[in-house]
Amino acid sequence: MNKTWWKECVVYQIYPRSFADSNGDGIGDLRGILGKLDYLKTLGVDVIWLSPVYKSPNDDNGYDISDYQDIMTEFGTLADWDELVAGMHARGLKLVMDLVVNHTSDDHPWFVESRKSKDNPYRDYYIWRPGKADGPPNNWQAFFTGSAWELDPATGEYYLHLFTRRQPDLNWENPKVRREVFDMMHWWLKRGVDGFRMDVINMLSKAPGLPDAAPLGGSRHVQGSEHFICGPRLTEFLGEMKRDVLSHYDILTVGETPMVSPDDAVALTHEETGALNMVFQFEHMDLDRNFAEQGSQPWKLQDLKAVMTRWQKGLEGRAWNSNYLSNHDQPRPVSRYGDDGPYRVVSAKMLATFNHLLQGTPYIYQGEEIGMTNVAFPSIDDYNDVATRNVYRVQTQELGLDPQVALAGIHKRSRDNARTPMQWSGAPGAGFTTGAPWIKLNPNYPTINVEQALADPDSVFYYYQTLIQLRKANPIFVYGTYDMILPEHDEIYAFTRTLDGERLLVVLNFTATSPEFAAPAELAYSSAELVIGNYPVEAGDVRRFTLRPYEARVYRLA
Ligand code: GLC
Ligand code: CA
Repeated sequence: MNKTWWKECVVYQIYPRSFADSNGDGIGDLRGILGKLDYLKTLGVDVIWLSPVYKSPNDDNGYDISDYQDIMTEFGTLADWDELVAGMHARGLKLVMDLVVNHTSDDHPWFVESRKSKDNPYRDYYIWRPGKADGPPNNWQAFFTGSAWELDPATGEYYLHLFTRRQPDLNWENPKVRREVFDMMHWWLKRGVDGFRMDVINMLSKAPGLPDAAPLGGSRHVQGSEHFICGPRLTEFLGEMKRDVLSHYDILTVGETPMVSPDDAVALTHEETGALNMVFQFEHMDLDRNFAEQGSQPWKLQDLKAVMTRWQKGLEGRAWNSNYLSNHDQPRPVSRYGDDGPYRVVSAKMLATFNHLLQGTPYIYQGEEIGMTNVAFPSIDDYNDVATRNVYRVQTQELGLDPQVALAGIHKRSRDNARTPMQWSGAPGAGFTTGAPWIKLNPNYPTINVEQALADPDSVFYYYQTLIQLRKANPIFVYGTYDMILPEHDEIYAFTRTLDGERLLVVLNFTATSPEFAAPAELAYSSAELVIGNYPVEAGDVRRFTLRPYEARVYRLA
């Protein structure tokens, strides 16, 4: 396995709108981020991934881009961006930008032209089709509800949008589109970008003829996905991107790839032949989702163990995992896989141990490092996210669901759980803003905040800091081989990491109870030195011990 900096680093994701507001307008911005670089340096991360900061009308908070080569007005200017990247590089931090090129905003000049007439030079930049007698060109559904097609009155044809109707899909079959995207990437890379996180990048290639989809079933949760997930020309398009752009720079690339298997991931990220360094898979994120009912279901530790082990072993020696428990689209992990009540701090540390001890590059999402939790706003009007609002509308207006039941589902699943402002302090505005925040704060900010965490040596923050330091000091954290032990255990997730005769044992209690760990006979060791744990541990039997609620222990075996 090759050794590279992007395997050894730790990535921190910033959702700029909710991170830090420098001018009191209630919206996070680039100068706000600049003011927090020393904080991130203290945490110890190496790479910062910014969710989109480009010009955008914000139908989907920046994932709808109207100018790829300029900055969103509320976030600042290109000059601010230059200052930010200089500030990062001066501190040895790298910058990864979000690359959203499956679709643009409908405000993008290409689309404004494209919709004007059937013979407009930009017509073929997007995917236009005449409707069928009874409606749209096919039965594909959009991710955020409804048909994936929108009828445009100007020409009487439909355009494809896998996300909102304000996010028309680009036509990657058109070589001019690919040229535009590659030129834009070169432009940012020359300006100082150190990598890209590529939004829904496995959806670029749609099946020829755009055929109707089979009815939903299995793990497919959007009707039509079999015709655009890892489509026929995907590896060709990304291969071209690699040849034209990526191979000319020493950068980090991570593709966001819903609905992929480990084999799909290897095809995209193989050490020698892949176009990208890593992908984000979603199987562990989908364990608590009930797709049939657009709702939640309890997740099972057995399923989590099976999924993660399949990914760890499936990529071993061939490709590299990107490990994450949260991002701007997901509920907060402590509320989801841990406990956001009495065991919030220990369970946040246990989950951090899990994410940093798997083989792969760990990603931290803003606020995770202080154990921020889900929020339960009392009214749908408190929610901003377009996906949340669409689902609520369909559930209450079309499916007749009781509004309180729909709201309870939103409390669990809404993407806004991750988008409430970063909690810097207990001051009004949580230290995020001196004005009125664009979305309400989580009311727990007076107790859960950075100021508190920095003052408490036992905080979640310092535990993350220690994990990151350990990773830097111990190659086994990065490169050690993963092997699960005790696969049948319902409460404990335990595994080993092995490198050059050295071995770590990771024992994680995913419950609020006190299960007993008993090392399997085939795991030979006589002594074990604690490397990190989330409770004080006294000397004692290291082959058999009782775990406390959400306890995590990492031992070096001998
Ligand atoms: C990705 C982004 C999400 C966005 C969607 C459409 O899933 O992470 O926030 O809404 O793509 O761009
Ligand atoms: Ca601002």
